[in-house]
Parts: sequence; structure tokens; C-alpha cells
Amino acid sequence: MMASIWAVVPAAGRGTRFGGGIPKQYLDVAGRPLLAHTLEALLSHAAVAGVVVAVGEGDEWWPGWSEFAGKPVLTCTGGDSRAASVLAALETLPESVRADDFVLVHDAARPNLAQADLDRLLESGRADPVGAILAAPVRDTLKRAGDDGGIDGTEPRERLWRALTPQLFRRLQLTRALQVAAAAGIEVTDEAMALERQGLRPLLVEGREDNFKITTPADLARFEFELARR
Ligand code: C5P
Repeated sequence: MMASIWAVVPAAGRGTRFGGGIPKQYLDVAGRPLLAHTLEALLSHAAVAGVVVAVGEGDEWWPGWSEFAGKPVLTCTGGDSRAASVLAALETLPESVRADDFVLVHDAARPNLAQADLDRLLESGRADPVGAILAAPVRDTLKRAGDDGGIDGTEPRERLWRALTPQLFRRLQLTRALQVAAAAGIEVTDEAMALERQGLRPLLVEGREDNFKITTPADLARFEFELARR
């Protein structure tokens, strides 16, 4: 049995492009908020001990969970950026999570995480000195657009990957890397980027294409379809 691990979920985004003023992590999917599906995907894994969720300041939709799937749920107030929300959540982890323990970071808006992907990330990431991320190779041909909407050129896609979550790093190393990036005024869009800036090289672990982030109504429909198919 693997040692247990805590997870951090940034859920303080205010993305309301779905309408109704409800942030996407609280949209109803099959009778539950989207966030419930995400927490279930994480917490139903035997190795995951608990989760810290970063919620937006004055968040009126947070359902007030203090446990989920029989495991503890802690909360904190998120920040103005994803990285700031992750930092706040890292600071809220219980003291039992030691400085060099690995921690998972997973987007609230990524509910379709498969257990097998989490298994492989934990196995490969814990064997790596730095950590690892789930990622998928770029399959489409990439075009660079000019100002007029015309194509300026084609970018080589060899060796290009899309960064997914969860991402697995050591508590203190990740905290420091995010703090350094914030102090330098650099907006990191995932955790790995903060570590890369320090010259570290996290491992890419190929994950499923269907671990998608819900960004548009079409993504939400896709997740509803996946749920119905399960
Ligand atoms: O906006 P985007 O989809 O990239 O957000 C990724 C994740 O980061 C979401 O789960 C969102 O709720 C979270 N986030 C956050 N704090 C912010 C911005 C985004 O926790 N200030």
C-alpha cells in the first residue's frame, strides 16, 4: 500500500462564461456540482488521504463540505491567479504533510480523471527526484496566426505536449518555486512551469486525452456524455 498523499484543488476561478453568474466548478452535472465529480475522482483513490480546496473570496456556492467520500476536506481562500490559489492551499495543508512529502495539484474543472492515470502518475512521479505531471502529446498541426488572421507559418509539433493535471510535487519545493515566480511577477499557468524556471525537469507521464478541462459549454456536454456512458 502506497503512503497516503494529500491533494490541493484550486477552485477559486470566477469563470462565468457559461451564464447565470455561476462559476463553472459549481455548474450542475447529473444532480451535483461539477466540483463534486472532481473531488470524487481524486478522493475515491485509495492513496489520497484528503484535500484542500481553494475557494473564491465570498464564494456563495461552496457546499460547505468538511469531508467527502469519507475523507477530510479543508478549505482556504484562493487568490487572484491560479498560482496564488495553489499557494494558499499549500499553506493550509495539515502539519502531518511534511516538507518533502509529495502533494497532488488538480484543477477543479477537470472532473474526468481516470484512476489508472492517477496510479501511473503516483508511481512514476514518486520515483522521480522532482515529480511529474500528466500530459498528452499534441496531435493536431499547429499554426501561428498573423495579426490579420492569416497563417504566418506551421510550428513543428514533435516533442510538444499539453500539460494536464494532476501534477505531483514535493510540498516545500513547490511552495518555494511558486513564491519565487510570484515575486518575479511571472504568471505560471501550471505547477511544473514554476519548477522549470528553477532549472528542474519534472517528468511527463502520458495521460488520457479525455482528462479534459471544462472551459466551454461543449466541454460540459462532453463530460455529461462520458458520465452517462460509465
Ligand atoms: O481558468 P482556468 O480554467 O485555467 O482555471 C484552472 C483552475 O484554476 C480552475 O480549477 C479554477 O477554478 C482555478 N483558479 C483558481 N484561482 C484563480 C483562477 C483559477 O483557483 N484565481
